[in-house]
Amino acid sequence: MPLDIVIGAQWGDEGKGRFVDLLAANADYVARFNGGDNAGHTVTVGKQTFKLHLVPSGVVHPHAVSMIGNGVVVNPATLLSELDFLRSMGISVTPERLCISYAAHLITPGHLALDKAQEEQRGKTKLGTTLRGIGPAYTDKVTRSGLRLGQMLDQEAFADAVEEHIEVVNKQLTGIYGAEPLDSHKAAGEMAEYARKLAPYIADVSTILHHALKDGRRVLAEGAQGTLLDLDHGTYPYVTSSNPTAPGALVGLGLGVGCVERVIAVTKAFQTRVGEGSFPTEVSGKAAIRLRGTGENPWDEFGTTTGRPRRVGWLDMVLLRYSTRINDATEIALTKLDVLSGLNMIKICVGYHDQSVTSRKTGILSELPLGPGSLDTYEPVFEEMPGWDADLQSVRRWEDLPEEARNYILRIEELSETPVRMVSVGPERGQLVEIT
Ligand code: IMP
Repeated sequence: MPLDIVIGAQWGDEGKGRFVDLLAANADYVARFNGGDNAGHTVTVGKQTFKLHLVPSGVVHPHAVSMIGNGVVVNPATLLSELDFLRSMGISVTPERLCISYAAHLITPGHLALDKAQEEQRGKTKLGTTLRGIGPAYTDKVTRSGLRLGQMLDQEAFADAVEEHIEVVNKQLTGIYGAEPLDSHKAAGEMAEYARKLAPYIADVSTILHHALKDGRRVLAEGAQGTLLDLDHGTYPYVTSSNPTAPGALVGLGLGVGCVERVIAVTKAFQTRVGEGSFPTEVSGKAAIRLRGTGENPWDEFGTTTGRPRRVGWLDMVLLRYSTRINDATEIALTKLDVLSGLNMIKICVGYHDQSVTSRKTGILSELPLGPGSLDTYEPVFEEMPGWDADLQSVRRWEDLPEEARNYILRIEELSETPVRMVSVGPERGQLVEIT
């Protein structure tokens, strides 16, 4: 039963969209399983660049059916405007081409207001969320007071439930956060209108995918965010509220464990992060601008969803090794190798020194004693590798890569104990080296 899972191996923004796009060419279904419109996937097809937040990147392939699983939290306003955008770009998005799980939870105006109020209250200890209501929506899911897509099928009862939910949120907004209350009647009316529009798309995604897999159809699960933002396995508390790791695909789509074929862990050739939280290999100043770009190009390191400049640094192999383990990755897909062209020397973090006074560990750590929760006490240990000058953007074969670039890839394979199968060398669809 062929399920392939594409996940981010870092803090999100690894460039998963382009591999989803590549693999979607041979997939019958492409399914999102976690997160919400906090994600931003950029897919470049010829001269067209699609920036998607909720709809799976596979939607640009006319033959593939897009699925949004139960693990996703859906802001109906964003979803509907994304569908309008796709239609305006000539992409068909009918209920035959897009199904949303009845068990996916909704993000409401109440969740958006709570996200903002909570971040404001955290002050200096803010998480740097995308303010898309993600945390509050998952909180309601876990406390069993959330609203699910399936409720939209009975519009009258749904409007009542939304009104009740906003009234509960208002008590929190005014009582705990000193924020303005929302108009619950207005919110209920808006959500009921969204319900009318989304009802045709609501389906039993788990059953559809189960039968598809049984019939030998290929399903591609598309992760959002990355392993280090995983609620359980990431750099807690500076994480998102879902499980972007490979096992999250099974829970978030309603599938069992036997169907997985490939787990493709996507990582940049360097490290980036948005939002708060520790980042051992972070660089600043000129080195940061060199890796980040200036923002002139859509592929420079600025958030797709929030436009925030991303923090950048050298590739951290302690964390990548951790990610390939947590996800049981069958292979690595490496992105943005071309960005490193022109550097005399490339640093790669091969271990950590533990600086904490209470540490009982000495020497260099290549595994994290307590996972990546707090990385603040670690000092990265770097290896320096010679860089290369050649522009890689037209390279398509392993043997045509400069020797230094091949050595960098081989070192990544060695340290992660995982083969690198694909390397992107430019922003466009075909700018890829496949390693067999
Ligand atoms: P939230 O998911 O909006 O609650 O944000 C929690 C943390 O995850 C923040 O540090 C965000 O910057 C980060 N985050 C959420 N989604 C993405 C993403 O798609 N790419 C990168 N970082 C993300």
